[in-house]
Amino acid sequence: MRKLAAGNWKMNGSLAGLGELDALAAACPDAACEILICPPATLIHPMVARIKGGGIAVGGQDCHAAGAGAHTGDIAAEQLRDAGATHVIVGHSERRADHAETDTAIAAKAAAAHRAGLCSIVCVGETEAQRDAGETLDVIARQLAGSVPDCATADNTVIAYEPVWAIGTGRTPSDNQIAEVHAAMRAALVARFGDGAGMRLLYGGSVKPSNAATIFALPDVDGALVGGASLKGADFAQIVAALDAA
Ligand code: PGA
Repeated sequence: MRKLAAGNWKMNGSLAGLGELDALAAACPDAACEILICPPATLIHPMVARIKGGGIAVGGQDCHAAGAGAHTGDIAAEQLRDAGATHVIVGHSERRADHAETDTAIAAKAAAAHRAGLCSIVCVGETEAQRDAGETLDVIARQLAGSVPDCATADNTVIAYEPVWAIGTGRTPSDNQIAEVHAAMRAALVARFGDGAGMRLLYGGSVKPSNAATIFALPDVDGALVGGASLKGADFAQIVAALDAA
């Protein structure tokens, strides 16, 4: 299993800022893990052109379930693929919250990604209130069951555990809390898919150079989905190096 360091630029970045990509590429020319950047859709094609097959994959942050049609403002998985993307994030908690995305809608988006030949990165994660109420494992089980489509395989699907309260806050769960959720996710995937043992499980939420090595040492953590610390090439390169060293 090749580990994955995925960066989520969210609604940040510009053509003028693509030098960060060069900095990242220059800092990790021989990375063993897979490196992915998911920029805003406007930057997908410019990034692909700039990388020129140079070892960094480019992905989208969302896609529509349909292949084409009257959906103003949306982007089809096929269009992401056309722009050179190889992956797409679906069901990020910011999409679930800002756009009221349901598990069913997210599963349809992931299936669309697979139809288009993209690898989906399906995000799950509990809110702080859910964790405080002791509901974390139930929430994760429900989101996994509902958001991961039946067509998911170890090749076309990555799962990202992103506690909502850890995203952009500088707070991270304890090592035990991360390990507990990842073990539960692995067990649920194996029970449902059999080959779920091969699906990569990322942790996301305030991953940075200073905590990456500790998180990557945990069992069943096969990489990270990184927001803020992926915006600077030099920072993200340190996280890539920590993943390679794990
Ligand atoms: P963060 O975001 O690393 O800035 O906490 C992670 C994410 O939302 O994917």
